[in-house]
Amino acid sequence: MEERKWWKEAVIYQIYPRSFADSNGDGIGDLNGITAHLPYLQKLGVDVLWLSPVYQSPNDDNGYDISDYRAIMKEFGTMEDFDRLLAEAHARGLKIVMDLVVNHTSDEHPWFIESRSSRDSAYRDYYIWKEPRDGREPNNWPSCFSGSAWEYCEETGMYYLHLFSKKQPDLNWENPQVRREVYDMMTWWCEKGIDGFRMDVVSFFSKDQRFPDGAAAPGEKYGDFGPFVINGPRIHEFLREMNREVLSKYDLMTVGEAAGVNIEEAKKYAAADGSELNMVFHFEHTDGAAADQKVVGKWDHGKPRMPVIRQILNKWQLELEGKAWGSLYWDNHDQPRAVSRFGNDAPDWRVLSAKMLATCLHLQKGTPYIYQGEELGMTNTPFASLEDCRDIESINAFRQYVTEMKIISGEEMMQCIRTMGRDNARTPMQWDSSANAGFTTGTPWIMVNPNYTQINAEAALANPDSVFYYYQKLIRLRHELPIIAYGRFEPLLEDSDAIYAYRRIMDDQILLVACNWTAAEQPCALFTLDPAEASSNTLTEAVQDTYAAPPQELISNYSAHKSGILQPYEARAVLYRFKTRSRVLRDEE
Ligand code: GLC
Ligand code: CA
Repeated sequence: MEERKWWKEAVIYQIYPRSFADSNGDGIGDLNGITAHLPYLQKLGVDVLWLSPVYQSPNDDNGYDISDYRAIMKEFGTMEDFDRLLAEAHARGLKIVMDLVVNHTSDEHPWFIESRSSRDSAYRDYYIWKEPRDGREPNNWPSCFSGSAWEYCEETGMYYLHLFSKKQPDLNWENPQVRREVYDMMTWWCEKGIDGFRMDVVSFFSKDQRFPDGAAAPGEKYGDFGPFVINGPRIHEFLREMNREVLSKYDLMTVGEAAGVNIEEAKKYAAADGSELNMVFHFEHTDGAAADQKVVGKWDHGKPRMPVIRQILNKWQLELEGKAWGSLYWDNHDQPRAVSRFGNDAPDWRVLSAKMLATCLHLQKGTPYIYQGEELGMTNTPFASLEDCRDIESINAFRQYVTEMKIISGEEMMQCIRTMGRDNARTPMQWDSSANAGFTTGTPWIMVNPNYTQINAEAALANPDSVFYYYQKLIRLRHELPIIAYGRFEPLLEDSDAIYAYRRIMDDQILLVACNWTAAEQPCALFTLDPAEASSNTLTEAVQDTYAAPPQELISNYSAHKSGILQPYEARAVLYRFKTRSRVLRDEE
């Protein structure tokens, strides 16, 4: 039996503060805006709020470039506003998890200003400085936001490393003083009473100190830094140290954003012995689901295929079982809107497919994350041109691929940005049908999705069939039924092109879940068969007299079912309780 922990039974809600709610009319979301909407979040029923960075920042990458870790971004409010948010959240039984961005700082952080000032600065080794190689960059690594990962500094005639924008210099984790500073800062926040950390690009902290060139495709300027940066040589040593020095001293929830991490590595980051983090986010399903449709770099404008997503998610479910805890997500501030990418945002199907996706994910094993607006079925935004965009990643990619390299047309790049761009997640939260979706009384920092007149929280709260109440029910079910947090996961119907089905097994119970990922009816016999026998290959008639109670439908996005059929985007979850445990566990031996 899995060890019980509060964060295994919790549902996390991610807030992107800039776009959540503006309390003072400057067009930018802020802390007081969040505090004002705590009753809404409490009503939804989530347990934890993860705040994307709220620290002081020049906002080159919307707060993921921090210039003071112990101050609040002026646009977001003051430390008093933060303390009040924390206190009011706690009073409502909501925990607060902070984003921890320590792979890099802002170039406006005092450490970096000192560091760049001279080769002898006491802070020189806080960052990664290298001599030019043949008068050029020290190696061929690219930045994740286009161009080289190295920036030349006139003052000292050397280059510094920035795996993201040049305003995000990478910290030198080899330097014990840097690690000490980070741990002290984390302790400072823990002493304030926060409840955990989401660790930004944690898999990049430890770099191969030889800094070799990455393998480059013929004719390509840049090579792959992955093997020398991702899961670098000392990453687990660093995290175990951080755990000893800080994490183990508090009752926290920790999740690492682990780009490029595979299952074997995830088992170390999130090991059940608690020596590093509680869980990680992997990107296999968000990156890999349409991998064969890539147009350039990460970009595509195709539709991910369910069987690919299912194969990836099932593999993670099975392989983490009993060894490490997992996280479940479709959406975050770096992804397009889930209903548009994985579901169907056409008016006839938006609500049904949003609920289907929620069912499919929330009844798997792991801790589910909801990204603001996902609970309303918010969609991608029809950005007309680059002028509508604010994201440094999209803007730089457009410049690189369209303007400089001319390998893709501007229109096709906009199609990619409308499909995958991070701004899709960053348009303002849609509160009501008043001007600017009720997000601000001023001019919003980024356009509002024009569909806010139909899709908004006020309308959702007034409609018992809304996506909002469906999420509320899924969250309540997780809190009520231990099988949802702890039951063993088993895939079903793995050959189906249309249906994602699985069962969860615990004690004398089986939970059967089936989701139709298409807009057509699909034959599906699962709910007329014996769930104790149902597996991908063998299906037999139900043995009703072995049930201790009639099968109980926990949730569905349809109120009436058709026998032997799943209707378009239909999702169903049915709980079976058996008279004897042996009936359920027979194939567990
Ligand atoms: C992570 C964040 C992303 C940010 C990047 C650099 O991937 O989620 O928003 O741009 O790290 O900090
Ligand atoms: Ca504001």
